[in-house]
Amino acid sequence: MDERIFRLDGRVAAVTGGAGGLGSAICQLFANVGAQVACIDIDLSAAEEQAETIRKNGGKAIGVQCDVASEASTVTAAATIADRLGHATVLVNCAAVLDRSGTILDIDLAEWDKVLRTDVTGAYLMSRAILPGMIEAGGGSIVHIASMHAHVTKAGRVSYATAKGALLMLAKTMAADHAAQGVRVNTLSPGAIRTRRTEFRYGSMTQEMRREHAARYLLNRSAMPDEIASATLFLASQASSYMTAADLLVDGGYSAI
Ligand SMILES: NC(=O)c1ccc[n+]([C@@H]2O[C@H](COP(=O)([O-])OP(=O)(O)OC[C@H]3O[C@@H](n4cnc5c(N)ncnc54)[C@H](O)[C@@H]3O)[C@@H](O)[C@H]2O)c1
Repeated sequence: MDERIFRLDGRVAAVTGGAGGLGSAICQLFANVGAQVACIDIDLSAAEEQAETIRKNGGKAIGVQCDVASEASTVTAAATIADRLGHATVLVNCAAVLDRSGTILDIDLAEWDKVLRTDVTGAYLMSRAILPGMIEAGGGSIVHIASMHAHVTKAGRVSYATAKGALLMLAKTMAADHAAQGVRVNTLSPGAIRTRRTEFRYGSMTQEMRREHAARYLLNRSAMPDEIASATLFLASQASSYMTAADLLVDGGYSAI
C-alpha cells in the first residue's frame, strides 16, 4: 500500500456548492490529486471562475450551473457531467443555503422549507441524479457535508441542525441500500470553517466574543477550508475503503467538552 490510495487519478468528482468557501477548497484539492472535477453551483459565473482557477493551476475542471433544490436542474447537471467528463464516481453534497438563526416561532414555513429543501432534499436529488451513472461505472463514494450541529445543537439553529441531522440518516440508509453496488456513503461533520457563511453568522462579533467563541474548541480556533477538504478527500478516496454509513467529525474538539 502506498500514498496513491489518497489520489483520485482518472476519477470524475462532482462537488455541489463547488464555488463556496469549502466547496472550492474541495474542488481544488481533488483536482490536485488527479480528479476531473465538476464544480457545481447555483451561481454559474462563480462555478466557472472556480473551474478556470483550477485549470490555470494545471488541473481539469468544468463549471456546472445547478440548483440542487430542483429535480430538473440536478438531472440536467448529471447529464452534462456524464457528457463532458464521464460518470462521476465521487459526489460531494456540499451546497447549503445561508440560513437565518431563530426558534421555530421565528422561522416561518417558507424559510424552514427553503433550508430543508436545499440542505437535505438537495443532497437527495443530486444523489438520485448521479447514482445510476456511478453504479454503471462500478461504484464510488458519496459524501454529504453535515455539521457538528448534527451532533450538538445550539439555541436558535433549529432549521440548520435539523437539516444536518437528517443528512446522517440519509447517508446511513443510502449506504445500506447501495453497498452491494459498490457505493460507499458517509457524512463529514465540520466545526466552524472560515468562509462567508461564518462571516454571515458571526461577522458582527467583537474581538472579545470571537476569542470566547474560539475557546469553545479544544484547538482554540475555527478551521481553514483546506483542513476540511483534506478530510473530505479521505472519505472520497480509496484511503477510506472500509468506511461506509459513518460520520467523520472534524470539529477541532468542539463537541467533546
Ligand atoms: N462554514 C462553516 O462554518 C460550516 C460548518 C459546518 C458545516 N458547513 C457546511 O459546509 C458546506 C459549505 O459551507 P460554506 O461555509 O463553504 O458555505 P458557502 O456559503 O461559502 O458555500 C455554499 C455554496 O453553496 C451554493 N448554493 C447555495 N444554494 C445552492 C443551491 N440551491 N444549489 C446549488 N448550490 C447552492 C452557494 O452558491 C455557495 O457557493 C455547507 O453544507 C455547510 O452547511 C459549514
